[in-house]
Amino acid sequence: MGDQQLTAVGTGLASDEIYGRAAQVLPGGNTRTTIFLRPHPPYATRGEGAWIWDVDGVRRLDFNNNYTSLIHGHCHPEIVAAIQAQAGRLIAASLPTESEVGLAEALAGRSSAFERIRFTNSGSEAVMMAVKAARGYTGRSKIAKAEGAYHGSYDAVEVSLDSGPANWGDGAPNRNPYCVGTPQAVLDNTVVIPFNETAESLALLEASAADLAAIVLDPIPGRIGLIRATPEYLQMVRDFCDRTGCLLIMDEVISFRVAHAGAHSLLGVRPDLVTLGKTIGGGLPIGAVAGAQRFMAVFEETQGRARVPHGGTFNANPMSMTAGAVAMRLFDEAACERLERLSILASATLSEIMGRLGVAGEILREGSLLKISLDSRPKRTYRGSYPGPEQARREEQLFRALLRNGILIGRNLTATLSTPMVEADIGYLADRFEAALSEVLIDA
Ligand SMILES: Cc1ncc(COP(=O)(O)O)c(C=O)c1O
Repeated sequence: MGDQQLTAVGTGLASDEIYGRAAQVLPGGNTRTTIFLRPHPPYATRGEGAWIWDVDGVRRLDFNNNYTSLIHGHCHPEIVAAIQAQAGRLIAASLPTESEVGLAEALAGRSSAFERIRFTNSGSEAVMMAVKAARGYTGRSKIAKAEGAYHGSYDAVEVSLDSGPANWGDGAPNRNPYCVGTPQAVLDNTVVIPFNETAESLALLEASAADLAAIVLDPIPGRIGLIRATPEYLQMVRDFCDRTGCLLIMDEVISFRVAHAGAHSLLGVRPDLVTLGKTIGGGLPIGAVAGAQRFMAVFEETQGRARVPHGGTFNANPMSMTAGAVAMRLFDEAACERLERLSILASATLSEIMGRLGVAGEILREGSLLKISLDSRPKRTYRGSYPGPEQARREEQLFRALLRNGILIGRNLTATLSTPMVEADIGYLADRFEAALSEVLIDA
């Protein structure tokens, strides 16, 4: 299909015209904070494999993949066929379906940490339910999370999400609300710890040990800069949980894709609960809490009322379950290894270009996730890798230059590979990256 014909798939309006309509019915013309772009975003119309088209007829190589969730790219034929067949059979019902058992079995087969699984509709809901499960199991109310870490839109884990030099404080991280109007009780119940700063975090955890239900930790937090939690930090957190009865919730909504059995297997740490989402739904909305039977039992109603009741009209809906099962079957060890090889190639290629053009910075990489950083300082902590205003300005420029040059990546310069990608796609990325970087250098 030619690009011109593609604009006719919708009403034939251009992005600016659609945005004009959007602004009349949606606040700010938008529904998703993370994808809003001034003056307006390009509106997508079609995707195929590694490519995405917008209504203006522009084709881009998609390295965002709906913020890492489309591990098999757009409209993978086997996933589409499964969705179509399921849509013709049953879209949703107030009876369970075998499809939820199938996806749960597929996930449980990947990690011994996943003894039981409970499905939600998003990663945010998964984190919320994991926190509730930890509270229900321990009878305690506080949680701890790392400064700057993103865990979705549940208010308890939004605390200090976007702390910066102006408000993070001199010593222990300040507890900053993310949304105006966040209740003080939410701030009081969230202990904010500095990522990868072992002694400082331990002291803060100890001070609340009797009240802590859980530590919520993304072991490779994209928003902190795709930096791994150090073995020492992970050990401290695990030991603290074992000693105090607090649960370790590993948020692998993104980082599950770095290895066949997720980040906890790669890093060799035993989680109590794991939150999942994104890739496990084959492109459809999903989330899940997985963990040891003794913790997950809080959701059981077999003996009467559950300690933590968990309803949800669309929980384990057969569309997401079916798409997810196919996606997980396709994301086997071989697919994982191939993505790893492609991302090593991408990382080396982009690093070479930055070096040749004399641009300070580095490419960080974990499995099929990459992050372009225009900062060459060694990165270990949130504060130590926090971009200054000039770096932030240039990174925004680079994001926009890539968008103009046919590459879609995350606003924070996170790039995600998908299984339809081949070496030639990395070549295309390299070519467009060099062009985009040259534009940013001219503007500097
Ligand atoms: C680590 C992490 N946890 C939770 C979430 C929330 O997932 P969702 O957007 O599906 O609600 C995200 C989303 O990007 C995430 O990156």
